[in-house]
Amino acid sequence: MTELAPGFLWGASTAPHQIEGNNLGSDFWASEGRMPGMERSGDACDSYHRYREDMQLLADAGLGAYRFGVEWARIEPVPGMVSRAELAHYRRMIDTAFELGLTPVVTLHHFTSPLWFAQEGGWVGDRAVERFRAYAAAVSPILDGVEWVVTMNEPNMLAIMVGMAQAMQNQAMQNQVGENQQAAGEWQSPTVDTEGPRPQLPAPDVKIGERLVEAHHAAREVLRERIGAKVGWTVANRAFVARPGAEEKKRELEYIWEDLYLEGARGDDFVGVQSYSSQWVGPDGIEPHPQHPDNTLVGTAYRPDALGIAVRHTAEVTGGMPILVTENGIATRDDTRRIAYTGEALRHLEAAIADGADVRGYLHWSLLDNYEWGHWEPTFGLVEVDRETFERRPKPSLAWLGQAARVRN
Ligand code: FCB
Repeated sequence: MTELAPGFLWGASTAPHQIEGNNLGSDFWASEGRMPGMERSGDACDSYHRYREDMQLLADAGLGAYRFGVEWARIEPVPGMVSRAELAHYRRMIDTAFELGLTPVVTLHHFTSPLWFAQEGGWVGDRAVERFRAYAAAVSPILDGVEWVVTMNEPNMLAIMVGMAQAMQNQAMQNQVGENQQAAGEWQSPTVDTEGPRPQLPAPDVKIGERLVEAHHAAREVLRERIGAKVGWTVANRAFVARPGAEEKKRELEYIWEDLYLEGARGDDFVGVQSYSSQWVGPDGIEPHPQHPDNTLVGTAYRPDALGIAVRHTAEVTGGMPILVTENGIATRDDTRRIAYTGEALRHLEAAIADGADVRGYLHWSLLDNYEWGHWEPTFGLVEVDRETFERRPKPSLAWLGQAARVRN
């Protein structure tokens, strides 16, 4: 069996908007329900109140780490006004994790921003970097003792979302629809969930990506001045695989989609790898993924090997930085399939570790069946949540992951 780094973290991940409920001051909340077929987050999993129960489930399964987020819209409901009560709330979460023997991995930004931030221009606005730096500084007092802090989740996906919102806004202005409908910077879900082929996402805009790198560096600097945590960010990995003759195209796409952000991680203490599936690249670019009975509930290919590809690529581009797998999982109704996928993904992870990748932990996405950015149908959870009573029902995969961790540690 592959030897794992001492203190290797085993656990699961969540994001505040997807589980807390009633994230009223956020840009995403404001945009929900605007797109046809997009569902609202509403009470979500009510984890804002039930976080102890969530953490207890993880601890009871024998898992030792929990990645969760702090919600900017709650911490800073109006520019410059920091809510002490909300800071105390998130500190209680951190303390609860410690009390239950869980290592908290805390994300400061997971796709959602305060609506006011979006309205003043969001990530492309003049004050974006300064605002994010100030927010990180405001959160820092509650991070005492926290070992792992993620400044920003999937900046490469965020760049796509910001670009899409800009395009919609421009379109709205052109059509003179205006009427505040496409309020500045509000963005729409990129995940149009279908059983069919996944709609192709536009590529992340490099200029927006560079702005996010700048914001990440500003937050990293301010956190390092104030706390002793390891600071990093997490990158969505597409695990591109080139068709014969398409190697050059693959490298070009990798830069735009991933490497800009992995290079932006240099100088960090770790980098988060987030991997779900893999994508073929032909001479003309990314090949649309065809319909297939094995596709997941978000229309992606069943590719547990993607995690190995993602980890190896990340290790190569970052020059061997410490890696935390901060997300890996599958949208399926069939928990047996989740177990099979995860078991296979872990084998690929171990092979990458055996080949020298410095991996410090594995956090499964997700602890709970949650609000998947506009849709409730794609279920990624180790635990089912009753949408009316909020009762948590652990699936066999939760105990299975606990056991997988035990035999490996
Ligand atoms: C990632 C996101 C996470 C969740 C999973 C399925 O891109 O970080 O919030 O939506 O995908």
